[in-house]
Amino acid sequence: MTDLLAQPLKLPCGATLSNRLGKAPLTEGLADPHNRATDKLVRLYRLWSEGGAGLLVSGNVQVDRRYLERAGNVAIDNNGGLDMVRAYAKAGTSGGNHFWMQINHPGRQAGVTRDGTLVAPSAVKLHLAGKETITPRALTEGEILDIIRRFAHVATMARECGFTGVQIHAAHGYLFSQFLSGLTNQRTDAWGGSLANRARALLETLRAVRKAVGNDFPISMKLNSADFQKGGFSNDECLEVVRWLGQEKLDLLEISGGTYEQASMIGAAADTAYAPKMKASTLAREGYFIEYAKRMREVTTMPLMITGGLRSRAAMEEALASGGMDVIGLGRPMCVDTDICKKLLTRQVDVARSYEKEFRFDPKVLGPDAPADVIKAVEMWGGIGWFYVQLWRIGEGQEPDRNLSLFDAFQSWQAGEAKMGEALAPL
Ligand SMILES: Cc1cc2nc3c(=O)[nH]c(=O)nc-3n(C[C@H](O)[C@H](O)[C@H](O)COP(=O)(O)O)c2cc1C
Repeated sequence: MTDLLAQPLKLPCGATLSNRLGKAPLTEGLADPHNRATDKLVRLYRLWSEGGAGLLVSGNVQVDRRYLERAGNVAIDNNGGLDMVRAYAKAGTSGGNHFWMQINHPGRQAGVTRDGTLVAPSAVKLHLAGKETITPRALTEGEILDIIRRFAHVATMARECGFTGVQIHAAHGYLFSQFLSGLTNQRTDAWGGSLANRARALLETLRAVRKAVGNDFPISMKLNSADFQKGGFSNDECLEVVRWLGQEKLDLLEISGGTYEQASMIGAAADTAYAPKMKASTLAREGYFIEYAKRMREVTTMPLMITGGLRSRAAMEEALASGGMDVIGLGRPMCVDTDICKKLLTRQVDVARSYEKEFRFDPKVLGPDAPADVIKAVEMWGGIGWFYVQLWRIGEGQEPDRNLSLFDAFQSWQAGEAKMGEALAPL
């Protein structure tokens, strides 16, 4: 029997992935106060590199220190520290696997702004349960061009420092995802309006990055199969963008879905006015986006990676065989079981543990009068914070804490995040 997960994959640029398992990008929160890479990242990535995946994608690295996804992000923005980026790349490739840098601008979803403002395609405010947000300012054309240059620069640095590829983050409601969505892109110039205009910033960035890194270097993109929001980037629009991407030099398209307002990427479906609930059948199934991904397969021959909810070897093999996917992305299991890919490949296990399905949260710990949106926020963000805390632990050389409660995780994460925010060095 052919072992589908163990098959190598040759990419259009000529590089080869040694197997079909990829560690999905996971924001680490392990940078120093200057947003430079650290020994903690080196420790974490050495473990991941020994963990068997043919591909590791880094957590999102920022192109602009003024706007961070979170305080502990690595940024490459004239902040020095390239020697540590080299050490980080070396650790992440020590097992002979590929290690690609995910590059991002968070736009209106920035968790940290250094000047009290946010920028986005248009001045459309983000709505988050239990959290105050500020209305972003629409980017000028000059600023859009500057962001494109920044992506190309960071990609060049990634290559120079020893990363073996890059990934452009165009999913999950961050800047390029905001450009693609008609809800968040209300521009009337060349960067908004028609889908072709809304996709312009992304396509121009891909071309600039390709020009910067050359034709023999893997470039990936993470894209939403849909935003799952009324009026947002739809699967039909996605198919059109995928057709356009097929005309460019792209090596691997990672498929995901959702935004902060509708966190379908982790199967958490907020039922808000802005986000119709994700179908229970979709959540129950492994591979949240597989049906959408199959439609994408019909319109392109480029390699596809599917991420979101896949846990059993059976479902992974099915996605590769009948789903026409090329790589399986694994996120949350990697935050705890750093060697889970090796175990799946050697058949030591058949299923990666779904820690997120084991969380039990009793809203009573928040007191008798906790507002519904606070309960919702703790449930949703605690479910992510739990994994953040595990990455911090591993980075610090501790064992993951598999028994950590959701509420304790939420509190530790909030406290840790605030501490990192306070420690940030002035720009
Ligand atoms: C702790 C954590 C951090 C994440 N950070 C990123 C990130 O930096 N970039 C990104 O594209 N996706 C990020 N994601 C989403 C994952 O890459 C992935 O799409 C999602 O977890 C679904 O895959 P899974 O079901 O295997 O966990 C993150 C998810 C988690 C849980």
